[in-house]
Amino acid sequence: MNKSLLIVYHSGAGSTKTIAEIYCCLLENLCTDHQIHLTPISDKGAFQNIQEYDLIILGFPTYHSEPPASMKEFAEEMPPMNTPQKLFLFTTYGLYPANSLRIIGKQLKKKNYLLCGTAGYRGPATDAALLLPKISPLLVFGKKTASRLVDDLLEIKHCLEGGKVNESMPRFKLYSLLNYPNQYFGKRVKHKLQVAAEDCIHCQQCIKGCFRDCWKPGNAAPIFDPTHCEHCFRCIHHCPESAIILSRKTKTRVKLTPSFYSNKKELLLAKIHKMIKE
Ligand SMILES: Cc1cc2nc3c(=O)[nH]c(=O)nc-3n(C[C@H](O)[C@H](O)[C@H](O)COP(=O)(O)O)c2cc1C
Ligand code: SF4
Ligand code: SF4
Repeated sequence: MNKSLLIVYHSGAGSTKTIAEIYCCLLENLCTDHQIHLTPISDKGAFQNIQEYDLIILGFPTYHSEPPASMKEFAEEMPPMNTPQKLFLFTTYGLYPANSLRIIGKQLKKKNYLLCGTAGYRGPATDAALLLPKISPLLVFGKKTASRLVDDLLEIKHCLEGGKVNESMPRFKLYSLLNYPNQYFGKRVKHKLQVAAEDCIHCQQCIKGCFRDCWKPGNAAPIFDPTHCEHCFRCIHHCPESAIILSRKTKTRVKLTPSFYSNKKELLLAKIHKMIKE
């Protein structure tokens, strides 16, 4: 039987999805005798037969210096393993990932998942795009993303092909303590998402796209229920009419749309292919 690899990701606007898709695309070329499956955590069957995989890669963004609630809940639901299951984690972040990889690594270690590697990629800051006036350097993947991806994928190949692996739990990041006030207040700000009803074209994209079930159909426009919202801002970035807003002031801020991310993905892949050829 072929060896196989599962890539499971959680992504709001699309930074993490972009990296997960690049992983999948490059690993398919790099590890031709392996079956590779890519799936979002919202896919109900995401961890069916998880024990049959030789390696599991989990990718998620960092929100308020932590993994998002959806990712923690997913890790909570992952089944305990009888024998050590190899695991690789990556996160995307706007400025710094703090301890988010360590948090999921620790959570899964208790269930016998062996963390054999981690990676972090600076990506477009999906919060800053909406909350701050336009700061271009915050809206791109980090300059070293392509070369990091190549190094990380070679490490994953080694791990997948049965190379010796040691546990590589990231150390506790002391700097995260300095960020604590920011994290504390950031988590407590409950953004009130509103729809500018005059702009809504009733496409239902927000209702279908939210994995926390926060949008319900309404007469003039969908209605927001904040109960389980994790403020990933996906609905705001992806609304085709920019009808979902945090406030009138943020209406014209840059939107990180699916086509924004598919361009970024093509650019990164082109850069990586060029690096490999050289
Ligand atoms: C609510 C929220 C909180 C965030 N908090 C942080 C943070 O604490 N540190 C950081 O470096 N980036 C932070 N970011 C930026 C995201 O980590 C970054 O944009 C990530 O690539 C988004 O990935 P996604 O598009 O897959 O959700 C935050 C973004 C959001 C939406
Ligand atoms: S995604 Fe935007 S346009 Fe579509 S239903 Fe939701 S608010 Fe209306
Ligand atoms: S309603 Fe909240 S959880 Fe749902 S897509 Fe929008 S920001 Fe994300």
